[in-house]
Amino acid sequence: MAASAPDPEPPAPEVESTAVAPAPPPPTPPSPQQPEKPAPAGKVVMETQPESLATPPPEQVPGTAKGARGYVVLTIGLPGSGKTTWFKRRGVTPLSSDLLRTLLFDDIEEQRWQGLVFSTLRSLLRARLIAKMPWNYVDATNLSAHERRQWIKMAKSFGYEVQAVFFDVPLEVCLERNKRRERTVSEDIMRKMAERLRAPDFKEGFSKITVVRVKGAPASGAGAASAGGE
Ligand SMILES: Nc1ncnc2c1ncn2[C@@H]1O[C@H](COP(=O)(O)OP(=O)(O)OP(=O)(O)O)[C@@H](O)[C@H]1O
Ligand SMILES: [Mg+2]
Repeated sequence: MAASAPDPEPPAPEVESTAVAPAPPPPTPPSPQQPEKPAPAGKVVMETQPESLATPPPEQVPGTAKGARGYVVLTIGLPGSGKTTWFKRRGVTPLSSDLLRTLLFDDIEEQRWQGLVFSTLRSLLRARLIAKMPWNYVDATNLSAHERRQWIKMAKSFGYEVQAVFFDVPLEVCLERNKRRERTVSEDIMRKMAERLRAPDFKEGFSKITVVRVKGAPASGAGAASAGGE
């Protein structure tokens, strides 16, 4: 993500302290595209970001959709909150604007054609849903309910459940990680994005919300309370 125009929608063993779901069994290698057993509707799952990026993710139990055709999983989080890293650790290739910019323009940093990038992203998800793909991931910042609504609407219209993975990572941590990256976002833009960030709410239509936090760090304060309970 370039400093000038950020994407508008744009490691302890990873023991998940589970708010309402049972603790996961011991870690095993990831199962691409099928990260975990679907939790019952309306559940919040807490997860702690590993301090070492080499830490394997928790066991991923293949799940099959019951009652739904499949799942659409949306990430929600600031640049540097760890969304793409979360997918990489699970061996999952999500739909993302970075992937699209590489495919369309041979340049991950191309910042023109934002509308084209996001309309193509939506078309790709639609194609996956038409093809009845069971697990579908969108790696984007999805800061506001407004930005998330179009994805949720599409998923539901195809009979899919929608899950959120909310990276409730303090702005200061994101800023620090951002400084160490190759492609940085300006601090000013990061702060503006943090103001726009709203925690996901079940009222938006999510059937499950996973909250990913940094070990020992406070919640970001982005209205996390609404994702912290049922
Ligand atoms: N759990 C973690 N602990 C320490 N550093 C991390 C962790 N997760 C990610 N990082 C580091 O933070 C930086 C940003 O991570 P990542 O690219 O996953 O963020 P992102 O949320 O996808 O950002 P963007 O929205 O800009 O794509 C990377 O350098 C990554 O190595
Ligand atoms: Mg990313």
